[in-house]
Amino acid sequence: MIGVFDSGIGGLSVLAALRSAYPSADLLYFADTARLPYGGRSPSLIRRFAKEAGERFKGWGADFVQVACGTVSSLALDEFKAAANCPVAGVVLPVVGSLAQNGRRRVLILSTEATARSRVFEAALSEKRPGITTLSLGCPLFVPLIENGFFARNDPALLSLVGRILAPGQTFFPDAILLGCTHFRLFAPLISSLFPGVPIYDCGEEAARAVPEAFGQGNGTLRVYVSDDPERFRLAAERTGSLPPGVPIGSAAEG
Ligand code: DGL
Repeated sequence: MIGVFDSGIGGLSVLAALRSAYPSADLLYFADTARLPYGGRSPSLIRRFAKEAGERFKGWGADFVQVACGTVSSLALDEFKAAANCPVAGVVLPVVGSLAQNGRRRVLILSTEATARSRVFEAALSEKRPGITTLSLGCPLFVPLIENGFFARNDPALLSLVGRILAPGQTFFPDAILLGCTHFRLFAPLISSLFPGVPIYDCGEEAARAVPEAFGQGNGTLRVYVSDDPERFRLAAERTGSLPPGVPIGSAAEG
């Protein structure tokens, strides 16, 4: 079984990509909704959350886990791996590889605050492509807005708020935008209208493409667990259009 982990709805696009790439894969999505958002927490707390999430996947018997959370991928992938006791992949390296391969030179990195402070995406980009110029913006309001359904591209108030937050990016003149938080994919149309013509690289989308085919065999089952309030998660998930209607959502305690 392939496990997919995020703090909330951000990883659902990764789940959807995996379902479409590997229709017979057995998939289990776990969202740590009780502790969302991770991005404003300290590194030590994020490491503890990652370890505990990894332990849950070990309990569920995952053969492979795709961490679909930029924050855990940046700050606590080792803790997650050690606890899950199976192969685990994060979302940093695939998107960095793709940006480097496409010759991008001025990359605007948008992520949670914790990820921005870790500078993990910058370090990985500079290693792959020395001389690359980056500007990193931590965006603490984005995850709560998206979780609460505020991501319509034609909402003028939202566009104005996002525009204010991303204003430093305008004078940076990026030739690519890296979404380092999986939630931010839902803001991609808004971000595109603020940066017309600038290609957007979503860390979750790139990671889903990199999941080894060997784990994609099974009976096509899908399980979803959350650590708090399954109904609230269902509402948020349904707004994204990435979770098929009617999928049972269990409490992680039952997992
Ligand atoms: N989707 C998570 C990420 O990619 C959101 C983290 C959070 O809960 O703040 O970073």
